[in-house]
Amino acid sequence: MRTLDDLDVKGRRVLVRADLNVPLDGETITDDGRIRASVPTISTLLERGAKVVVCAHLGRPKGKVNPEYSLAPVAARLGELLGQDVAFASDVVGDSARSTVEALQDGQVALLENLRYEPGEESKDDAVRGEFAARLAGLAELYVGDGFGAVHRRHASVYDVPRLLPHAAGGLVVAEVEVLRKLTESPERPYVVVLGGAKVSDKLGVIANLLTKVDRLLIGGGMAYTFLKAQGHEVGRSLLQEDQLDQVRGFLDEAARRGVELVLPVDVLAAVAFAAEAEHDVVEATAIPADREGLDIGPKTRELFAAKLADARTVFWNGPMGVFEFEAFSGGTRAVAEALIAGDAFTVVGGGDSAAAVRKLELSEDGFSHISTGGGASLEYLEGKTLPGLAALED
Ligand code: 3PG
Ligand code: MG
Repeated sequence: MRTLDDLDVKGRRVLVRADLNVPLDGETITDDGRIRASVPTISTLLERGAKVVVCAHLGRPKGKVNPEYSLAPVAARLGELLGQDVAFASDVVGDSARSTVEALQDGQVALLENLRYEPGEESKDDAVRGEFAARLAGLAELYVGDGFGAVHRRHASVYDVPRLLPHAAGGLVVAEVEVLRKLTESPERPYVVVLGGAKVSDKLGVIANLLTKVDRLLIGGGMAYTFLKAQGHEVGRSLLQEDQLDQVRGFLDEAARRGVELVLPVDVLAAVAFAAEAEHDVVEATAIPADREGLDIGPKTRELFAAKLADARTVFWNGPMGVFEFEAFSGGTRAVAEALIAGDAFTVVGGGDSAAAVRKLELSEDGFSHISTGGGASLEYLEGKTLPGLAALED
C-alpha cells in the first residue's frame, strides 16, 4: 500500500476520505474520537502544502438531503482540533462543493457535506456509483483513503474514487491495518477475544473465524443470552435471537471440538425493565426469572472474565458487556476494560460501542495498545474478508 510519503502533494488538491461518523445529540458531538483520529493525516497534508478536501458520511440518510445528518457540527469541531478554519460546502459535488474547493489556497482545508445525501455513494449499481465517483474525483487531483471505519463498504468514495485518482493510504488506515495484521498473523498466546453487544447475528462470521484462531472466547452483552439459551437455560425477557440458536449450538460444539475455551456469564443483573433506574438483582445465569431481563454481567462473571484475561498475551475486545449507557448496568463493561488495562497483553479495542464505552466510562485510552476507529471494519478484517476500501488502495 502506498502511503502519504509516496505522494507529492504540494500545491495539489487532495481528496481525503475520512470516517467522521460520530454520535450526535442534536448538534452536539457526544464522542469526537473519530474526528481526533482523522486529524494527523489531514495535518500532515496541510503542512506539506496541499489543498485538502475532506469527504465523509454521517449516519444513514439513505441518499436524501436531511439536515439531521449534516456534517456542519463536525466541520466546526474539526476546525477546533486542527487550529484552523475548515471551509464547509453545503453540498457534496454541487455548486457549493466546486466553489469551496476552487477557493482553497495551499495549506487550507474544506469539508464536503454528507456523502450519503447522494444516492450514488451507496448505490449497488456500478454505473450509478461510478458516475457519482467521477464527479467526486473531479474535485481533486489525488486521493487519500483514511476512513478506516468505512473500508468494509463498497461505496463510491471508498471503492471507486481511488480507481480514478493516484492514491495512497492515510496514516490512520496504515496504523489500523498494522494492528489487525498482528492479530491475524502472529498473535502471542494465550490469545483471548471478548465479544459483547446486542446481536449475535452481527458476529456470526467473526465467531466462526475466531474459533479457528483463539485460545479463549469470552461472551457477554446481549448476545450471551442466545448462548445461554442454546445451552438449554431459560433467559426470561433478555435479548434472544431464536433464529440463531442452531448456529450458536454449532459454535458451542465447534469450540469443544477444537479445545477453545468458550466462557459464558455465570451470573447477570436481572432487571424488571430496560431502563436506567430499573430495579434489579444479581441472579445465576442459569436461573433468570421469567419476568426479568439481563442487562449486565454479574459480579462473579466480572471476576471470572478478569481471571480469564489475566494471563493473556493478546486480547481483542469488541462489544459492551451490558447496557453501559445506564450507570447501573455499566459495571461489567468497566470490569472488562479494567482487566485489560491491568494486564500487560497487547490489547485491541475494536471500534464502535466498545471504543465509545471506554471514553464514556472515562477510562484511560492509554491503557490499551490500540483503540480502533472501525467496529464493523475491524470485525470483517478479523473474519478474513476482503475489504473493498483496502483492496482499492492496494491496486
Ligand atoms: C460505522 O460507524 O460503523 C462506520 O462509520 C460505517 O458506517 P455504516 O455502518 O453506517 O456503514
Ligand atoms: Mg456500523
